[in-house]
Amino acid sequence: MSSVPKRWTGLPGPREVGRRDGIFNVEALRADFPILRRQVHGRPLVYLDNAATAQKPQAVIDTLSRYYEQENANIHRGVHYLSERATEEYEGARKAIQHFLNAADASEIIFVRGATEGINLVAQTYGRANVGPGDEVLVSAMEHHSNIVPWQMLCEEKDAKLRVIPINDSGELIWEEFEKLLGSRTKIVAVTHVSNALGTINPVRRIVEQAHRVKVPVLVDGAQSAPHLEVDVQALDCDFFVFSGHKVYGPTGIGILYGKAALLDAMPPYQGGGDMISSVTFEKTIYNKLPYKFEAGTPHIAGGIGLGCAIEYLNGVGIERIERHERELLEYATQAVEEIPGLRVIGTAAEKTGVLSFVMEGIHPHDIGTILDQQGIAIRTGHHCAQPVMQRFGIPATARASFAMYNTREEVDALVSGLRKVREVFA
Ligand SMILES: Cc1ncc(COP(=O)(O)O)c(C=O)c1O
Repeated sequence: MSSVPKRWTGLPGPREVGRRDGIFNVEALRADFPILRRQVHGRPLVYLDNAATAQKPQAVIDTLSRYYEQENANIHRGVHYLSERATEEYEGARKAIQHFLNAADASEIIFVRGATEGINLVAQTYGRANVGPGDEVLVSAMEHHSNIVPWQMLCEEKDAKLRVIPINDSGELIWEEFEKLLGSRTKIVAVTHVSNALGTINPVRRIVEQAHRVKVPVLVDGAQSAPHLEVDVQALDCDFFVFSGHKVYGPTGIGILYGKAALLDAMPPYQGGGDMISSVTFEKTIYNKLPYKFEAGTPHIAGGIGLGCAIEYLNGVGIERIERHERELLEYATQAVEEIPGLRVIGTAAEKTGVLSFVMEGIHPHDIGTILDQQGIAIRTGHHCAQPVMQRFGIPATARASFAMYNTREEVDALVSGLRKVREVFA
């Protein structure tokens, strides 16, 4: 993958973070995240809810306030200094994201509100134009609701059918079932790269290859992969890829839809309004070129610029170092929690990212979460917006600890001793 272009403005880029002399230094990295210094209920915060949202480094926080303090202006329209400057920053961020995903061109990078909006955009444009009565949309049994409901809505409107690739007891896709389901009726495959509820990494390259054999495009939901794995959309050859800014250490309310230019070009626009047009009369509107055709109205300018900064930050640490660190943490944590009596890990795929979902015999996950919270430990409990996964495993909910680059073994130890305390309370 090509490296990110040099910082595109005079603003200082993120410091060389988290690495000193080529060594991944988690303590140095933690110092960049101010929230990690705070206490919760009188105890040091142990933040293990990263699959829901990640914390923000100082560089991103500074970028947001600097934008509003010194550069705020609307983009693409003004000839004045601030507008030009804001436009340059926003478009520079788009380029940084292009490089991050290794997209062929910056025009294939569409700013959206998040992974959810990216999927809805594809369902409402590509989907509505290409899916008809009797056609099928293929998703997996481990999807987040964001990658189920937009397709369900489309299928309902078009009298099409949502088909589901089942998963095994470890939380892995059953490949033979996928092969059987992929047929002449399939119009699109929409599958998550990484499951937020189980941590499973899906073989998306293989899925794309198989789908392309029968000329079916693939949307990859990268909400849980972009923060943790190297993503190269050209190597994956996926047709669409979405992710959310807030999970990659950037702001909320901003995310990315990547699409192959040929597909995006052929798709109708999503929303109408300013910026997405090249000319308007009451008789006819000519739409703008990519990517603006899909970016109606004033966008989340600060968010886009903040996301660019977050991506630079990630690049500064190095995604392969992050991957290694989080894999080690997951192994360490999995071994440790398996020694707790009555605890069962849900999601034991051979290929996983740092998501540790579990249940404890006789204890509701919400109680686990509440007792841990009293000790300053933030985890998530519930169905994780993946109710079909819970149904598959015959449970109402799980407790989920999810790791980020700044988590440590000491925090895993705190989790484990917190869980032992939970056991004691319910003994
Ligand atoms: C796998 C997956 N897809 C999609 C989403 C939706 O992301 P957002 O709410 O940021 O749009 C999430 C959020 O948790 C997720 O984990």
